[in-house]
Amino acid sequence: MIKGRNSEENQVIKGVIESGNEHVFHFWDELADNEKDNLLKQLKSIDFQLIAEYYNNYKNIDEKSFDKFEPVKYLSAEESISNNELNKIGADALKSGEIAFLTVAGGQGSRLGYEHPKGCFPISPVKKKPLFQIFAEKILFYSSYYSNNFFWYIMTSKYNYRETLDFFIANDFFGLNKNNVIFFKQGTFPSLTIDGKLILADKSNIFMNPDGHGGILKALLKNNLLEDIKIKGIKHLSYFQVDNPLVDMADPRFIGYHIREKSNVTTKVIAKLYPEEKLGVIGRINGKSSVIEYSDLPEKEMFAVDENGKLLYLMGSIAVHIFEVDFLMNFTEKMPLHYAEKKIKGYFFNDNDKPIFTDMNGTKFETFIFDTIPLAERALFFETDREVEFYPVKNKDGFDSIDTCIIGQSRLFYSWLKDAGLINEEYNNQMVEISPLYSPVKEIFLEKVNENSDKFKNDNLKNQKEIYIE
Ligand code: UD1
Repeated sequence: MIKGRNSEENQVIKGVIESGNEHVFHFWDELADNEKDNLLKQLKSIDFQLIAEYYNNYKNIDEKSFDKFEPVKYLSAEESISNNELNKIGADALKSGEIAFLTVAGGQGSRLGYEHPKGCFPISPVKKKPLFQIFAEKILFYSSYYSNNFFWYIMTSKYNYRETLDFFIANDFFGLNKNNVIFFKQGTFPSLTIDGKLILADKSNIFMNPDGHGGILKALLKNNLLEDIKIKGIKHLSYFQVDNPLVDMADPRFIGYHIREKSNVTTKVIAKLYPEEKLGVIGRINGKSSVIEYSDLPEKEMFAVDENGKLLYLMGSIAVHIFEVDFLMNFTEKMPLHYAEKKIKGYFFNDNDKPIFTDMNGTKFETFIFDTIPLAERALFFETDREVEFYPVKNKDGFDSIDTCIIGQSRLFYSWLKDAGLINEEYNNQMVEISPLYSPVKEIFLEKVNENSDKFKNDNLKNQKEIYIE
């Protein structure tokens, strides 16, 4: 029987044993005092009743099916592009300090074979700027363009917080005012074995995983950031993932639409290229607007077509949202949990209770921020153009890879040069990069070229294999 060093410790130990997790004390007698403290601190933070509830739900999920699933409306790209009113409302909000940026950067670049925060991954076509630098330079540009020092909130996980912060410090915050870049950590959930038990990552640590980007709500509240955001006069948060260098976090039409329509949360969508594309799909479940993660979409709905043979659930989320701050502040609902089986490295116990340090399948629990959408009174969708705004870097090769992301950016920047009349030939695999500090979007690029045509007078862009404009 394990003995704590005082009654409080004995209480924690008793709870762990009653939950059927006595094995986490297997190495107790070998542990130094500080390691015992560490283990008990982690165990104390775990709500065993909740864990049992998660596990039972996970065990009892049937083949996913929805009672009533229907297509949902969205504002088409055509409608928004021709609407100058939206542009004006958004631009006014951007000038007035009502908008701040929020990035979820809790993930590592492991799918890229890169064991560092994904935001540090070099990805621009010519200068190989890291994702964080590309976003920082866009924000820097917009701060001057809108005469407003934007705040940028960055959520990391507990595991990549230090490295992310050090990266910004080493790069002098890429020119941003460091007081305007606010880092905060998301929480964790314990991962479980296939039969619902805690896992020892090593002799004195429980295996935990980041709690998913839905953890943002808890993390903002815990750090009193929502209060702080409100006090600063920020009314809407422009949210984006760390993996897409082409995101326009200050798109006035998108922001204008969200504000004009008094939406709680507005989401950017694009048409899927093929039914299985890994995008969360938009639809209405039991009358509520929703994003259904690709892994949760039943095959029937994934392949369903209308009378013209067009996918019925065509539009997918690019995980770019605008959240109304009041909506997040008043959000009290419990977020549903998602489950993923994955390989976990740690101590697993065989039938004779002998620990073996190995990789085994376990279950990871997460919450998703887009599960707030069906709980909003008003949630809207806004179409954008894939070629303009969606070349994420997720995988080493294949779809959404380093290559597709670099070529996607080059092609887009090349099209700006063509539209500006700086080049006439067809794209021929040149590496092209336009610094966000020169212009983060085409419209501004065209204006600047027009006003300042001397800059390009002697450039023979046609024969260059690499073009960089700053
Ligand atoms: C995600 C969306 C998908 C959307 C697609 C668009 C999820 C679950 N799915 O898929 O609906 O269509 O992007 O590109 O988000 N993150 C954290 N903390 C965590 C987990 C993730 O900050 O605990 C961040 C990651 O750093 C990343 C983002 O969330 O920026 C997305 O995570 P990931 O799980 O890789 O989702 P995708 O499969 O890319």
